[in-house]
Amino acid sequence: MRSFSERSTVGRKLSGRFVAGMTVEDALSACEAVNREGIAVSLDSLGESVAVESQARASAEIYHRLLDAIQAKGFNANVSAKLTQMGMDFDPALAERIMGEIMAHAAAANSFVRVDMEGSELTEPTLAMVERLHAQADMQGRVGAVLQSYLYRTEADTERCLGQGIRIRLCKGAYKEGPTVAFPEKTDVDANYLKLAKRMVASPVFCGMATHDEAIITEICRFVGEQGIAKSAFEFQMLYGVRRDLQRRLAAEGFGVRVYIPFGTEWYPYFMRRLAERPANVLFLAKNFFRN
Ligand code: FDA
Repeated sequence: MRSFSERSTVGRKLSGRFVAGMTVEDALSACEAVNREGIAVSLDSLGESVAVESQARASAEIYHRLLDAIQAKGFNANVSAKLTQMGMDFDPALAERIMGEIMAHAAAANSFVRVDMEGSELTEPTLAMVERLHAQADMQGRVGAVLQSYLYRTEADTERCLGQGIRIRLCKGAYKEGPTVAFPEKTDVDANYLKLAKRMVASPVFCGMATHDEAIITEICRFVGEQGIAKSAFEFQMLYGVRRDLQRRLAAEGFGVRVYIPFGTEWYPYFMRRLAERPANVLFLAKNFFRN
C-alpha cells in the first residue's frame, strides 16, 4: 500500500492537504507563502528509518540544502529532523555525527534544528544525544528536543531539559505506546499537556506549544495573560494544513506561531498518522478530492 500510494498520482493529490509537495522547491514555496502571513516555519524532509549510511547521508544532504536556502532567501524558518533518518537504527554514532554537522550548519546560518521525537524506545537515546549536542561549545540554542505528554516520564524530562536550557517542543505524542509507558486515557494526556505547558511558558527557556487543541490553547493564553508572561516568551506550533484558521487568529493576536511543513516522496507514514488521529479527515479529504 505504501509504495503504491507514494508513487500514484491519486495518492500524491490526496497527501497534498498535509504535505507541501515532493521537492525542496515545493517546500520552499510553501514556506514563503506561510511566512507572508507572519507565521514562522519548521521544514521537515519526510522519511523514517534508513538502513545504510548512503541513505542517511542523502537525507542529511536535503537538510543542508534547506539551511542554505533558508539563509539565502531570508526566510523565518528552521528545520525538524528525525534521528532514524540519519541512521539511528543501525549506527547511533553515525546519526550523532550527521546531526552534529546539520546543527553546525544551522548555527553558521543563524538557524536551529529540532530533533523530532519518535517511539518510546528512542526517547532516552534521543534526549541524551540532544544533551550532548547542546553541550558543545557555541551550540546552545541551536538544537532542541521534543517531549510527548502521553509518556509518564515527560514531567521529569521537562525538568531535565529546562535545567540545561534546552528548548522543548511539547506535543501529545503520535506513536502507538502501551500502558506501561504512556497514559492510556486521553483526558490524562491532555491534563499532563496543560500542566507541562504552563511549566514551560513560565520558564526562561523558549519553548514551542505544539497542539491544535483549542481548549488547551485558550487556557494557555489565559494563563500567560494572568501571569503577565510575555507573548514572545514562547510560541504555538501547528501542522501544515491543520487548523489554519486558528494559526492565523493566534498570529493576529500577537502570539508567535510556527507551522511544521513536511514534504518529500516518503509521505505515507506521516500522512497515515494524521488520518489516524482524526478519522474525520478521511471524509474531508474524500469530499475535497471529488470536488476538485
Ligand atoms: P488532539 O489530537 O487532541 O486534537 C485536538 C483537536 O485538534 C482536534 O479535535 C481537531 O480539531 C484538531 N486536530 C488534531 N489533529 C488533526 C488533524 N490531523 N487534522 C485536522 N484536525 C486535527 N508527535 C510526535 O510524537 N513527535 C513529534 O516530534 C511531533 N512533532 C509535532 C510537531 C508539531 C508542530 C505538531 C503540531 C505536532 C507534532 N506531533 C509530534 C504530533 C502530535 O504528537 C499529535 O499527534 C498531533 O499534534 C495531534 O494532537 P493535538 O495536540 O493537535 O490534539
